Parts: sequence; structure tokens; C-alpha cells
Amino acid sequence: MRAFLRLAKKTTTTTTTTARKGGDVVVALFFSPRFSSSSSSRLCAFTSSATTLDDDDDDDDPKREEVDGFSVFPQELPSNARDPSKDDFINDATSPPRTREQQLEYSKHESLRDWLGRQSRKRSVDEIVVLTGNIHRGSEILHNAVYNKGTGFNHSERERLGVRGLVPPRYFSIKEQAEKVWQQQVAMRESNAAKIGRWRHLQALKDRNETLFYRLLQDHVEELAPVIYTPTVGEACLNYSRFFRRARGMYFTKDDVGHMHSMTYNWRGDVKIVVVTDGSRVLGLGDLGAHGMGISIGKLDLYVAGGGFDPQEVLPVCLDVGTNNKSLLNDKWYVGLNSQRLEGGDYYRVIDEFMRAIRHRWPKALIQFEDFQTKHALEILTNYRNDYLCFNDDIQGTAAVVLAGVYGALKVLGAKDRSEIRNQKFVMCGAGSAGMGIVSMLHKAVMKSGGLSEEEAYDNFFIMDNNGLITNERELEFPREAAVEPFAKARKATKELPDGASLLDVVTKSKCTALLGASTVKGLFTEDVLRQMGEQNERPIIFPLSNPTSNAECTSEDAAKATDGRAIFSSGSPFEDAKSGVSGRVMRANQGNNLYIFPGLGLGAVLSGAKTISEEMLVSSAKAIADMLTEDQIRKGCVFPMIKEIRNISARVAVRVIKQAAQEGQAKRSVVKIIESDDEHDTKLFKYVKRAQYVPEYRPTVFPVEEIRKTVDDY
Ligand code: NAI
Repeated sequence: MRAFLRLAKKTTTTTTTTARKGGDVVVALFFSPRFSSSSSSRLCAFTSSATTLDDDDDDDDPKREEVDGFSVFPQELPSNARDPSKDDFINDATSPPRTREQQLEYSKHESLRDWLGRQSRKRSVDEIVVLTGNIHRGSEILHNAVYNKGTGFNHSERERLGVRGLVPPRYFSIKEQAEKVWQQQVAMRESNAAKIGRWRHLQALKDRNETLFYRLLQDHVEELAPVIYTPTVGEACLNYSRFFRRARGMYFTKDDVGHMHSMTYNWRGDVKIVVVTDGSRVLGLGDLGAHGMGISIGKLDLYVAGGGFDPQEVLPVCLDVGTNNKSLLNDKWYVGLNSQRLEGGDYYRVIDEFMRAIRHRWPKALIQFEDFQTKHALEILTNYRNDYLCFNDDIQGTAAVVLAGVYGALKVLGAKDRSEIRNQKFVMCGAGSAGMGIVSMLHKAVMKSGGLSEEEAYDNFFIMDNNGLITNERELEFPREAAVEPFAKARKATKELPDGASLLDVVTKSKCTALLGASTVKGLFTEDVLRQMGEQNERPIIFPLSNPTSNAECTSEDAAKATDGRAIFSSGSPFEDAKSGVSGRVMRANQGNNLYIFPGLGLGAVLSGAKTISEEMLVSSAKAIADMLTEDQIRKGCVFPMIKEIRNISARVAVRVIKQAAQEGQAKRSVVKIIESDDEHDTKLFKYVKRAQYVPEYRPTVFPVEEIRKTVDDY
């Protein structure tokens, strides 16, 4: 019985389980909140005669007992069991009373209970009766993206869920269905259809059948991530009001202050991760207001496909605090608030109430900040990072992925270990949230891995913004440029390199080895600059990180041409490998995609039960990624492992994050126990993480007969 109840608990959220113990009929009533709106009318009863059960009727005592948290009544059916001859009970093909004779026989008896009692001696364990309310459940299931399988419903499900006849007769597995949708995507790619067309095609699939959508995304993550997320999602966000079809996620506005906590109860169930944006700086496209929702949704799609979060447990959020984007304010179809952006205390009140509301409703949920403009991003992170399980992907995720790329580049350079990071001189173009997040983390790595003091390590960095090189002579704006201050102080202006020096001068005179861009300025890495990098380094590190592609500081072709294909190249948006015109050498175009970090980091943080995300967790993630590089990949100039391996990469990252959490005393007891009994390869912990990952497969919508048989046998 325990096993049966465990199965019930696993398969559905159960409010009532009625089971006969030691009798010959097992009846379980399940209520699943996933059939949301009018769930109470979707009551399924599974009954099975259990010929293997003890026939002694010695426990007729109607005393209620608790098993695994379920209420168990040792009786078959409540005395007021409804008469199945009435219109709201349906029997499946194998269940009585089906034939005319059975119906006649049945009509002689007073209740279903009596009838089942008689029949039970004749019936075998695989006879199951499905009872349901009289609703159009079949068509409702087909229109529920969570449960819909389309042609993927098997015969038994079609019969028992009332889908029979509502879908074409032929059955296709999820693998075949995914292949078919993929063919459509390939056709769109080959006909050079607009990328946004592919994005819309995928959104339509998600609206119809989420499982198939995530299966497709997982199987083709390398090609589809740029469609579902940056750069294509940028275009989708620009036009979000026009593309708006179906509500997803939650919006909180200034008018919701005082109500946010109660509003969180409008969301259906448990939440493990929240991605929140205020739409103020979407992918370097500027202030897109409420259109930022597209970015939260796209990001969470990658948490599901890449990390293995359950799509039912993710919450995309847009904080609509107004917009200063005139074209949106003048757009009569704009779906957001028609007001200027909140500033100062009013703005932070919205943020604060939102944070508290989420923590109160889902205390263990991870909150990821996305695309907040620099002037707020750092302050928000500073305000909450020590008390909430949260991180900012633009600042910390980008920094960690760049660090992973630098560790990878050291391998390509043939460094004996990570300590050789101390020999790298970095020029960072862009002193915004992304740029400063990157250099702050690199600076720590130069200290920790490279063994330099804080002051010595500053000397490895040259920071530039739109006014050129930043030195101790620069007047900084606070708090916006607080992160720049220590770097500025340490970089003394000289005659050779005065404040505001040009990029070419800085590159030439600093003798830098690595050129990084987070400036949003297309073409900032000019041919001269790139050539200079190639002249002063055998293998220059060139990372144009700005998104989308149209904002990248240079293309892979530019870098390959100017350095004769010797550059170790990694960009924010995807580029093709490029051939040098002179030697014909092929330069590998890596993509320093945050996707390498955030799904695994998030998964590890949630699975460990950590209360906060520490800097060391981010560094551990970066190391995990570089450690996955194979010799062959290193030879080819890869600084990251293959993105198509993202599920395993995320699992490996999660393992390191969990171990780090344990080291910091942040991990829950059950996880610490696994670590304590594990081997040096973290085999058990890796298995634990893999088991926790959501797999986009069709799960049985009705109990598979074999499972019931096994469960009854167990009993
Ligand atoms: P931001 O607007 O806050 O900062 C841009 C910075 O670039 C400013 O400091 C500005 O002064 C500087 N800048 C402008 N013109 C310049 C020039 N000619 N030379 C040198 N610096 C110049 O933007 P944020 O948030 O820091 O993002 C920057 C870029 O990084 C965006 O394109 C964003 O998409 C990208 N990014 C990339 C990620 C990745 O994974 N690769 C992740 C997050 C952001």
C-alpha cells in the first residue's frame, strides 16, 4: 500500500486517497492542480481489483490512518458513491459495465460498489476504471500546453482521457514529432526566412505543446538558443506589444505597491527560479519597458532546456516601472504603463516590495536579475546579495563566463596551470555593469589564482569608456561608477597614457595580451587595433562581448583577417569560424555565452539549498567549464566546451556550486551526506544532479498498467 501511495504521490498532487487494504478493490481519488481552472470537476478515480491482495475482510474498521501523508480509508467507496449509469461517469474499454449483459446485470444492483464487489473476483489486476466528471476533458487537454501531446497520445490515453477521435488516428512518438518540427525550422533557415519568423514558430509550438517545445530546444540548443534568446529575442522584445498573444509570467507595477505579496498567490504553484527585469536595458537595445518580459521568458526557456529546471516551476517577471522610450509611450498598442520611469526612492520601493513578496511566497526560490540598467543594477545587487538567494547575470554571469573563457584561453596558450593568469594584461572597453563585473572578477582571479596582491593585480587592467582610458584623474559619478573607482585610482595618468587616451594608444603602449569589449559599440575594435594585437602577441585574446550581433566590437572575420587567424576569439553573440586570407588558417569563433554558466549555477544553488550566491560559487562555475575542455578542443582553439553538451555542462557546474555551498556551510544536510560519501570524481553528486533535471518526455497522463501491477505486487 505504501508503494501504491508513493506512486500516487509521485504522479499527482493528491488531496484524497481512498484505499482498501486487504480487500480486493483499490480505489484512489486524485485531484491534480495542474488541470488548473476548474480542477474540482476533473476528478479521476482509478480502481483495480487486486487479486493478489489478501481476501480476508478483517479490517473493515473504517478507522482512518495516515500513510506517507495520505489519508487512507479502509473501505472501497464512500457509501454515497455516484451511480455510473448517470451521465457523469465514463468507463474505459476494459471496464465494466460495458456489454449489454453487464449493464443489465449492473442495473440489478444498487450501487457501483456492489457491482465492483461481485466483479472483482473475476477481474484481473490490469482492469482499470477511469471515472471523470462530465466535461469536455479531451478537448481541454488538447488545449492545455502542459498536458497536450497531440498525436503523441497513445491508444490507452486517447481512450481514457476522451481524446479519441479528436486527434488524427496515427500515433507519433515525441522523437518523431520533434523531428518533424525541426524539419520545419530547417526549411525556414534554408529559405532564409526572417529569424523572427523562426522565433514565432517556436512560440506557437510552446503555446500548443510545452513538452515538445522543450524537447526541440534541448535537442538543438546550439542552433535554437540564438533564436529563443539573444540575438533574435531582441527583435521580439522590440515588437513585443504586437506579438503579444498569450500571457506568460507576472507583471508588477508601481500601482501594485502594497499588493505584491497577495498578487504572488495568483501564480499557480511552486516556483524554484524567478528571472526579473525592469526592461530598462534590454540586450543593449535600451529602454524597452514592459517589452522586457520577452527577455525573462527567453532566459527561463534556457534554464529549462540547458539546466533542467521544471518549466512548471519557473516564473518570468517584468517590473513595469514605466519607460522613457518615447516611441513606446506614443504607441497606442504598447502593453505597459504609459508613464515615465520611476526614479529614486519610488523605484527602490517597488524593487524592495517585489523581493520581499517573492521570498515570502517562495522562500527557497532563486531570483536572477536581468537587463537592469547599470545605474540600478549594481546597487540592487549590493542591496540583496547577502540576504537573498539572487544574482545578476549581466554582471556576475557574464563575468564568470568570461573568466571561464580566459581560463580556457590559458589552456590554448599552453599555460601549465591557472596561475599564469598573472601574466595577462587586459584592456576592457566598457565601464558599464557588464564590463565592471568582468574586470572585478578577473581581478580577483589574478589575485587568487595568480598569487598577486590586490595592488599588483590592478596593474593588469586598463579600463576604457566612451571618454577613453580611465585614470586617477577622472571625475567619476557616484554611485553609478563606484565599481570603477579602485581601478581608476590604481591607474596613474602618465604622459604616455593620459586620461582619455585612445584605444589604439592604450593597446600599443600597455602591451596588452587580452582585448575585451562590453561597450555596445559596433566596430570599436578597428583593423588597426586588431592588427596591433596580432603584432604584439603570438595568440592575442580578443573577446568582443557586446550583444546583439549588430553591437559587437568586431566580427570573427575582422579578427581572423587582422591577426592571420591567430586570435583566440570569443564573442557575446554567435559568429562563424573565420579563415585568414593570408595563411588560410581557420580561427575558431567561440561564443562566450552566459548559457554556459547561469543554468548550472542556478541549478546548483537551488539543489544545494544555499541561502546566497557567493563570489566563489561563480568562480567554481568558471573553473568547471574550463576543466571540461578536451585536448582536441584545446588544439582547435576552443575556449569553451561544445554548447550542445549543455545539459552535462550544467550538471558539472551544478556539482561544483553545490560543493562550494557545502564548503561555505550553506548546503542542506542531505546534500552534505552525498558529498561526504562520494568519490573523487563526484560520481554520486553528479548522479543526484542528473536525476533532479527535468527531462522533456511525455509522462503517462494515466497510470500505466504495468506500474499498477508492479505496485500491487510490491504490496
Ligand atoms: P552599459 O551601457 O551599462 O555600458 C556600456 C559602457 O561602454 C559604458 O561604460 C560606456 O561608457 C562604454 N562605452 C561607450 N562607448 C565606448 C567606446 N567608444 N569605447 C569604450 N567604451 C565605451 O552596458 P552594459 O550593461 O555594461 O552592457 C554592455 C554590453 O555587454 C551590452 O552590449 C551587453 O549586451 C553586453 N553583455 C554581454 C554579455 C555576454 O554574455 N557576452 C552579457 C551581458 C551583457
